[in-house]
Amino acid sequence: MSIPTFIVGTGGLGRGVAETVKVISERDRNWTISGFIDDDSNVIGTYVNDMMVVGDTEYLLGLNTTANVIIAIANPEVKAKIYEKLSLNTNLLYPNVIHPSVHLNSSIEMGIGNIVSDNVAFSANVYVGNFSLIHFNCTIGHDVQIEDYVTVYPGVNLSGYSRMKSKSQAGTNSSVLPQIIVGEGAIIGAGSTVIKNPIRYTTVVGIPAKELKN
Ligand SMILES: CC(C)(COP(=O)(O)OP(=O)(O)OC[C@H]1O[C@@H](n2cnc3c(N)ncnc32)[C@H](O)[C@@H]1OP(=O)(O)O)[C@@H](O)C(=O)NCCC(=O)NCCS
Repeated sequence: MSIPTFIVGTGGLGRGVAETVKVISERDRNWTISGFIDDDSNVIGTYVNDMMVVGDTEYLLGLNTTANVIIAIANPEVKAKIYEKLSLNTNLLYPNVIHPSVHLNSSIEMGIGNIVSDNVAFSANVYVGNFSLIHFNCTIGHDVQIEDYVTVYPGVNLSGYSRMKSKSQAGTNSSVLPQIIVGEGAIIGAGSTVIKNPIRYTTVVGIPAKELKN
């Protein structure tokens, strides 16, 4: 039986993830793309690329048959809120979206609702929680832990034993040195090299990365 699959978010990430979902659905006939979901009433009923925006999150809450939901939102707080709301409907499933170019070795442990884009390389014994994004061309070292609602933008290097705590974000082309713990909700600026543990809900930038004061 084919499972209807909805992509939440029509922004740049959502449109890119839709392309990955198309590739997956062509290979796996169990997924049928049913359209985008967006809470912006102005886009409902319109087409984004060649896919219709079929409704908002209330529409998903009202579904009484099994459906796949892919939350394609980069902002950790927003994706957490959307899941919190949608979790009231137990018909909804949250598969991992893994681009076929990615090799998941048998030592990786992964929860639900994650998105792994093209050409991400995983080493051994990586843990990925739930609803995290690992975008194009990242390298994820051995024993790395990526918790829930984390966003890892393109080209990031997470070195061995490093840890991205929940809702943390790593900007494009940033590097995190071995054993570094990136605090909950911390943000690493694009291109930065992190050599000290960023404290929770702080932003660090530069080489070496230093805390950005308000
Ligand atoms: C770090 C970041 C979140 C800061 O954003 P912000 O709070 O709006 O900060 P501002 O743009 O006001 O910059 C504040 C200061 O930090 C500096 N800065 C900002 N980002 C920086 C970076 N990545 N590296 C080095 N310095 C940076 C600015 O030059 C500015 O310095 P100044 O006060 O001396 O002029 C943002 O710049 C960033 O790098 N985001 C990552 C985005 C990304 O990778 N997106 C991926 C899309 S696919």
